[in-house]
Amino acid sequence: MDRLFQNNLAWAARMRAEDPAFFEDLAHQQTPRYLWIGCSDSRVPANEIVGLKPGEVFVHRNVANLVMHTDFNCLSVVQYAVEVLKVRQIVVTGHYGCGGVRAALHPADMGLIDNWLHSISVLAKRHRAFLEDARDESDQIDRLCELNVIEQVRILCENSVIRHAWLRGQELTVNGCVYGLRDGLLKDLGVSISAESEIEPKSSRALQSLLERYLG
Ligand code: CO
Repeated sequence: MDRLFQNNLAWAARMRAEDPAFFEDLAHQQTPRYLWIGCSDSRVPANEIVGLKPGEVFVHRNVANLVMHTDFNCLSVVQYAVEVLKVRQIVVTGHYGCGGVRAALHPADMGLIDNWLHSISVLAKRHRAFLEDARDESDQIDRLCELNVIEQVRILCENSVIRHAWLRGQELTVNGCVYGLRDGLLKDLGVSISAESEIEPKSSRALQSLLERYLG
């Protein structure tokens, strides 16, 4: 713990040196324009990857970046971000080599986590031929990581919090990206949805281009 406290002192001093009013301004209010829904993986820190400071991105992370209609934690974050903070962009971010996705692909008896990952196993069964076409296990996992992001974007868009925001005329776009652990780059999966009528056409198109990209 000593290391953490020392790092914190140095970090706070650095931030104050850059901008003496930084913490005071932030303490009054946060006005993030983005909501990040990503994986808990320690190698995928939301703020750092996209170069945003404290106060600029609202974050929810869980194993394998899942959105579930029964998850009050995730949905409370989404509701607060959309209705109170009025974020304009939501980014569901998966990452290649995701351990959660790997576990869903090869279910072992890992206890509680198997239940959490069940929906990815179902998704893998739905796309079995595409996954079996992969050249190796790592390619297979990466394919499923991308499929999972497109699926989570669709699920999120179908949630009442998002649909009601659109019905009110609120400007809000849900995006899907995947992050590369090997190169540090964020890839846009081409599934940016800004209205209920776009859910089906845009997620189908993103899925189609994903399949074409891998199958050549
Ligand atoms: Co992960």
